[in-house]
Amino acid sequence: MDFNFSADQIALKKMAQELVAKEITPYVHEMDEKSEMRPGLIQKFHNAGILNLVVPEEYDGPGLDALSIALIYEELGKGCAGVATSAAANALASYPVLVAGTDEQKRKMFDALNDGKLAAFALTEPNAGSDAGGVATSAVKDGEYYVLNGTKCFITNGGISDVYTVFANARKSAGIRGLTAFIVDRDTPGFSVGKKEDKMGMRPSNTTELILDNVRVHESMRIGREGEGFKIAMKTLDAARPLVGAVAVGLADAALQAACKYAKERQQFGKPIASFQLVQGMIADMVMAVETARLMVYKACWLKDQGQDYKLESAMAKCLSADVAMKVTTDAVQVMGGYGYMKEYPVEKMMRDAKLLQIYEGTNQIQRLVIANSVLY
Ligand code: CAA
Repeated sequence: MDFNFSADQIALKKMAQELVAKEITPYVHEMDEKSEMRPGLIQKFHNAGILNLVVPEEYDGPGLDALSIALIYEELGKGCAGVATSAAANALASYPVLVAGTDEQKRKMFDALNDGKLAAFALTEPNAGSDAGGVATSAVKDGEYYVLNGTKCFITNGGISDVYTVFANARKSAGIRGLTAFIVDRDTPGFSVGKKEDKMGMRPSNTTELILDNVRVHESMRIGREGEGFKIAMKTLDAARPLVGAVAVGLADAALQAACKYAKERQQFGKPIASFQLVQGMIADMVMAVETARLMVYKACWLKDQGQDYKLESAMAKCLSADVAMKVTTDAVQVMGGYGYMKEYPVEKMMRDAKLLQIYEGTNQIQRLVIANSVLY
């Protein structure tokens, strides 16, 4: 792997840094308090060309490689992990179509995204979280249509999207082999947005329930074959998890920088606390953890870009980086003591945000199962 980034990658990283400095950092506290993104922020991302990074060139997108996308998400993660999560939801919703969609489906999905619309990935249900194969939403064939009934929960951008990739079971008796993916428009009769969640962290990202009440979807909007949905979902999550890792690395790095700045300024016993070796030990551990997680994310992306198998590295990148983000943000609060615990300083929010990285897109316990199964069997 070449650790020298290309001129394009350096330019993308710089552009993302400038966007974060101008459009996210000054408003982080306000967005956290209000539990919503600033109006127009998504449009600004779209205008800057960083909302639909996975849309291929043949569908008028940038068709960026995974490593370049990770570099951008690392910068967004430094600004606000919640905003980064919301911006990444279009990629998550696009992967099922990229994995198994027809040309017509790709055109429909990517035209909408290129127009600035948002998409959401709807897999999780009240009783199907880690057990993704346990989806209870049903899809019953009726002529050329499928009739979908069920409830989805914890859907990122659920309330602010126009198009959804929805997983439902078309053959209940077949269990996970009945799972089937569909593209569903928000304005389809019977489709509605339910409760908006009031979250501990990542508060600017919109998280809602979705309700499907006799939603009729034409068979041309079934992604892949009937029963192929579970594998499509797994391949989607393989592709998306390094991005979660990139956001986690950015978040952890931002907490580390905040802790270093504070440690150099804060005087105790007549000296900056950065001069105390117990503080230096914490900082050194944070630096090593962030860099290790970053390397794991870059490796997973590099393997994907080389067309090699990257399922194991994808799970490791997500799991390691999310755990690092949790530990580093917690230690940043510790370095900053009482001030770190106060909302006036940035790190308590980072610590709250980090927790979700260990939970969504597959809990870190699930990642450990994937990792262990990859090497054991
Ligand atoms: N790629 C391709 N195929 C795969 C695969 C992969 N990564 N993983 C599994 N499969 C295939 C297997 O080969 C197997 O195929 P066969 O039946 O043909 O042999 C089939 O899928 C079943 O595999 P398993 O027996 O391993 O499945 P399992 O039931 O034991 O579950 C699991 C596996 C890893 C636990 C899976 O259920 C899982 O990943 N759960 C977590 C779900 C998750 O990440 N949810 C997050 C939702 S999205 C979200 O959070 C986003 C948001 O909005 C915030």
